[in-house]
Amino acid sequence: MVHQHIVWHPTAITKKDRHKLNNHKSCVLWFTGYSGSGKSTIANELDCQLYELGIQSYVLDGDNIRHGLNKELGFSPEDRVENIRRVGEVAKLFVDSGQIVTTAFISPFQKDRDQVRQLFAGNEFIEVFVDCPFEICEQRDPKGLYQKARKGEIRDFTGIDSPYEAPINPELTINTAKHTVHEAAQLIITHLKINGII
Ligand code: PPS
Repeated sequence: MVHQHIVWHPTAITKKDRHKLNNHKSCVLWFTGYSGSGKSTIANELDCQLYELGIQSYVLDGDNIRHGLNKELGFSPEDRVENIRRVGEVAKLFVDSGQIVTTAFISPFQKDRDQVRQLFAGNEFIEVFVDCPFEICEQRDPKGLYQKARKGEIRDFTGIDSPYEAPINPELTINTAKHTVHEAAQLIITHLKINGII
């Protein structure tokens, strides 16, 4: 709840002004998927491709945010809820600042993703399901975390002893077992163009 003596202060330069300056609109590309599905890799490739096009973009990545802003949060359901709530608010600031922000978090719960969606107007929130079969994510195991989770060295691991709820109606689904990283980024850029964001 917001403190009773806090009043919203409007800024002189609006989001619309920033869109005009940047020559593109802003939005959040909300990636969701298992650990090892390719969220961070695709987010970075997309960021590079947007940069080459002269577009203002930024990536918020789960591992990185958990080094700073959210460093006291773990992986219990409650901590994951708070993690996603805070990232949603940060993403909103980036969208207000006129940027295209990509968030790369497992964000396993539909309810939390829907709550973040509520923070945004119309087509500003784009849910991107980074879809990779669980078995392939476990085989890839880029950080060796699945192996540790199987041995019981990590608790509450998504897909093993913590649930993952796949998106019900995402704006985009990227099958990372079928598409290359470059193709995945291209698909997202095409979506941004079709929807008049860039
Ligand atoms: S969440 O569910 O959205 O709050 O998680 P997120 O902030 O994206 O953090 C996921 C990264 O943390 C590492 N890690 C774990 N993931 C899932 N479950 C457990 N228990 C866990 N412990 C550590 C893991 O490297 C995740 O990174 P990605 O990039 O998803 O592989």
